[in-house]
Amino acid sequence: MSVVVLWCLFVSVLLFHSCALGNESTSEIGWLTRELLESAREPQFLDWLKSIRRRIHEYPELAFEEYKTSELIRSELDSLGIAYSWPVAKTGVVGSVGSGQQPWFSLRADMDALPLQELVEWEYKSKNNGKMHACGHDAHVTMLLGAAKLLQRQKNELKGTVKLVFQPAEEGRAGAYHMLQEGALDNIPAIFGLHVLPSLPSGTIASKPGQLLAGSGRFLAIIQGKGGHAATPHKTTDPVLAASLAILALQQIISRETDPLDSKVVSVTFIEGGQAGNVIPEAVKFGGTFRSMTSEGLCDLQERIKEVIETQAAVHRCTAVVDFMEKERRPYPATFNDEEMYEHAKRVGESLLGEPYVQLSPMTMGAEDFSFYSQKMATALFLIGIKNESVKSDQPLHSPHFFIDEDVLPIGAAFNAAVAITYLDSHVADTH
Ligand SMILES: *[C@@H]1O[C@H](CO)[C@@H](O)[C@H](O)[C@H]1NC(C)=O
Ligand SMILES: *[C@@H]1O[C@H](CO)[C@@H](O)[C@H](O)[C@H]1NC(C)=O
Ligand SMILES: [Zn+2]
Ligand SMILES: [Zn+2]
Repeated sequence: MSVVVLWCLFVSVLLFHSCALGNESTSEIGWLTRELLESAREPQFLDWLKSIRRRIHEYPELAFEEYKTSELIRSELDSLGIAYSWPVAKTGVVGSVGSGQQPWFSLRADMDALPLQELVEWEYKSKNNGKMHACGHDAHVTMLLGAAKLLQRQKNELKGTVKLVFQPAEEGRAGAYHMLQEGALDNIPAIFGLHVLPSLPSGTIASKPGQLLAGSGRFLAIIQGKGGHAATPHKTTDPVLAASLAILALQQIISRETDPLDSKVVSVTFIEGGQAGNVIPEAVKFGGTFRSMTSEGLCDLQERIKEVIETQAAVHRCTAVVDFMEKERRPYPATFNDEEMYEHAKRVGESLLGEPYVQLSPMTMGAEDFSFYSQKMATALFLIGIKNESVKSDQPLHSPHFFIDEDVLPIGAAFNAAVAITYLDSHVADTH
């Protein structure tokens, strides 16, 4: 009996203890996230967020040309009294808030738009023809500036330093890689980023530990034949036929050579060749993207794509050149979330929005240059929902009809700030 009593006592002490601890830290985070979200939702703050997002949206700029966007960011940081370094990777800006001492933490926003004509008719429609913020990077910049303002308000209480990373060229040009190359994040142990997602309802966030997004590369092939009159095909070597069979053969790499339980993609997305109905052209050009969840998988795909195109061309008496454009189109590695960072951000998200509004995201074959940070430090990338049918913000990313629910801007600002503050709080002891 005494054993039982002791055991009960032991268990109840344990339970009480863990409850009390849980209570304390949960209510502290609860107090912080509530305060941050309320501040960011104040009418004046919200109007400021909207005006930034709209100014960026009106003048979208492509990769490494984000001059106006960069200028706007710097002018807002100036108004907030936040120091920054610039230019980093051409147009990038890295702000710094807090004590200037360890621990360090960083928050990231991408700045570039897409070469796409906006088809949404509204007051702040893109004024740069053929360019559009159709991936929400205007919202990412806004949310990070929002976080900057929230953090700066309590700069004296921050237990370390937050780097605000505004990077160029996420869309295919590996801006993150260039930020790292220039040493903008040397000695920073962790980074957090947000990406809007129109399939997820407003007020909801999602992510997962471990592997989140695929690695991706691009290729361009030119098949060279010998042109001539279409009435005498035997006097030509037909690159149209060679390209057709090469493209078909590329599809076997996934269906016949890849483990069905492994995830890979080979997509040919464009083909150009010939102009007339009675002329066999000299050459045909085509290209596309390939994806895998591992770097090894990417390498294997790259090797096979080259081999398949070259040998298919040879079978049809043509020659082929396959270019992976690694200088200007550096392949993106897969994006991983560090387990601890993921758990940290998830807890903060649950406190901010409530547990039912933090979802476990599936892996997708999309790619992000956030993966370059994943290779150097602890990372967590979270998706933030923007779907609200009443404002038609349910259109896919990269669609000309893409639209943001601006009521999400304060959520993103508060989430960024809360993740940073609590990270510093929980790491301040490590540095003493
Ligand atoms: C923990 O939470 C419960 C329920 O909300 C509350 O009754 C209790 O007083 C709290 N304990 C502490 C130590 O805050
Ligand atoms: C959707 O937008 C409308 C109009 O702004 C707003 O009243 C409503 O609360 C929003 N719904 C969600 C889920 O955020
Ligand atoms: Zn995009
Ligand atoms: Zn994007």
